[in-house]
Amino acid sequence: MKVLAILYDGKQAAVDEPRLLGTTENKLGIADWLNSEGHELVSSSKEGPDSDFQKHLVDAEVLITTPFHPGYLTKELIEKAKNLKLCITAGVGSDHIDLNAAVDHKIQVLEVSGSNVVSVAEHVIMSILLLVRNFVPAHEMIERGDWQVSDIARNAFDLEGKVVGTIGAGRIGYRVLQRLLPFDCKSLLYYDYAPLPAGAFVSMRVTTEMVSKCDVVTVNCPLHEGTKGLVNDDLLKHFKKGAWLVNTARGAICDKDAVARALASGHLSGYAGDVWNVQPAPKDHVWRTVKNPLGGGNGMVPHYSGTTLDAQARYAAGTRSILENYLTGKPQDPANIIVGLGKYESKACPPGIATQRKS
Ligand SMILES: NC(=O)c1ccc[n+]([C@@H]2O[C@H](COP(=O)([O-])OP(=O)(O)OC[C@H]3O[C@@H](n4cnc5c(N)ncnc54)[C@H](O)[C@@H]3O)[C@@H](O)[C@H]2O)c1
Repeated sequence: MKVLAILYDGKQAAVDEPRLLGTTENKLGIADWLNSEGHELVSSSKEGPDSDFQKHLVDAEVLITTPFHPGYLTKELIEKAKNLKLCITAGVGSDHIDLNAAVDHKIQVLEVSGSNVVSVAEHVIMSILLLVRNFVPAHEMIERGDWQVSDIARNAFDLEGKVVGTIGAGRIGYRVLQRLLPFDCKSLLYYDYAPLPAGAFVSMRVTTEMVSKCDVVTVNCPLHEGTKGLVNDDLLKHFKKGAWLVNTARGAICDKDAVARALASGHLSGYAGDVWNVQPAPKDHVWRTVKNPLGGGNGMVPHYSGTTLDAQARYAAGTRSILENYLTGKPQDPANIIVGLGKYESKACPPGIATQRKS
């Protein structure tokens, strides 16, 4: 069996640090095991025409990808992948795969649900704090050799007493809310289809109403037909002036230009996250450099919140476990199934819309 893994080149860092498992060098730590079982693992970072991706996809039975350096599996590529039976996302979020085409071609899609949800939730908390407290310009000032406290303090606030809301309160959104509890925010709101157990968090029935109450909005829902471009000019109009927005879910949930305009005008005080509508983000992507009128408010980083070394150990182990189940015919964990076949079909998770709850 040929297993194709589209990962990213970790270069010297991957040689120096073998725990960088999600790289072409370290191959999720599964190469020796697969070879010993008589299977072939091909790993590459290259996409596009004439790439290893397209060459090996033609006869690969299993495709492993990650959301961090996604091998975009389009309908056209699925049609060429005559032998493909299983796609594994080493991580969470399989929107880089055309899930409808996978259904049509009876290709299973599984991901390692829950593997990096704590990693992302911690990053969201960090991003909220760095925006609200105006951290990035303060640090840049220190590196420049300057010291003008008023230039920073004029736009620095406490998180205590603020209203924070999450669009999506699944595994990550719920953990974000839990981690916000000790900050004594004024209220913690969420918009999701399914309510959380009654408690400290207030369910909102309409997204526009929720964002109009929030000082901080965080996006934690999957990318699907219903969320693409959700945060656009129309929704941003409902945000409070000077609100902060954090998106570690998927870049395409936010309209690139609408967010940039809102930040540049000061309607948003800050935008932070690690996900981009195309990855790797082009050098001139406006989110790399756009600032609020005071020269701050940008907390963008490359897509790494869910790929800490701790998370990599979990999604590498989860990938191996999915492969072991596949090879031995054992049922897959239903929480991992995005597109299933027959008896393995997930009822909790229709293609394109991950609706699993916290676990
Ligand atoms: N940046 C990263 O490294 C990283 C890592 C992991 C996951 N993610 C992203 O975060 C997303 C959420 O992950 P999760 O593990 O919490 O998934 P999850 O399935 O546990 O939760 C997603 C929640 O979003 C809700 N939802 C769906 N559509 C919605 C909508 N239109 N409005 C409001 N809520 C909606 C679902 O009902 C569900 O409760 C993933 O789909 C992925 O795109 C990013």
